[in-house]
Amino acid sequence: MTSRPATKKPAKKQTGAKKKASKRSPAGRRAAATSENNAKPKLYASLVVQLLSLLKGEHDFIANAANFSALLFNSLPNVNWAGFYFLRDNELVLGPFQGNPACVRLPLGTGVCGVAAQQCETIIVPNVHEFPGHIACDVASNSEIVVPLFDGERLLGVLDLDSPTIGRFDDQDAEGLNELVTVFVAHEEGLGV
Ligand code: SME
Repeated sequence: MTSRPATKKPAKKQTGAKKKASKRSPAGRRAAATSENNAKPKLYASLVVQLLSLLKGEHDFIANAANFSALLFNSLPNVNWAGFYFLRDNELVLGPFQGNPACVRLPLGTGVCGVAAQQCETIIVPNVHEFPGHIACDVASNSEIVVPLFDGERLLGVLDLDSPTIGRFDDQDAEGLNELVTVFVAHEEGLGV
């Protein structure tokens, strides 16, 4: 008599717990997937608002680039380096950044930054160890995204982000970061940087 309820009770509890954890309606699954898909665009939209607020009333290019890199470094998950390299006399020279100290000068056409600058296009590298000529400034970095900055047709430099996570950056990051650098450069336009 006493053994039956004792064995049944835990079994019922387990069944109930399993149902709750594993069952989601198709509508619920769709809503969760949509919310995951929207997470990055939402984050970047909020970063545009925050960047505009940081830039408001301030036209010191270095100060603004420094705050921009700090905003990215502290707002984007799984990023161990965020900053700028500016084009100076046909090479890239380190600008404001957040993260470990980095290589100061990068030749055009070499490394992820140099190739992005030379080809004037955004480059996403899922695994930096597979990128020929990758320049390792921080041994913790495993993936990278580099976005060129233009003042009209003129290349100003690149924005570089590193992550310790393989495959951290995707097209949504590329889109969001391109929008942010466009906002940044538009604010600085006409300053002769
Ligand atoms: N990895 C870069 C060099 C810059 S650091 O990542 C900060 C490259 O290959 O160009």
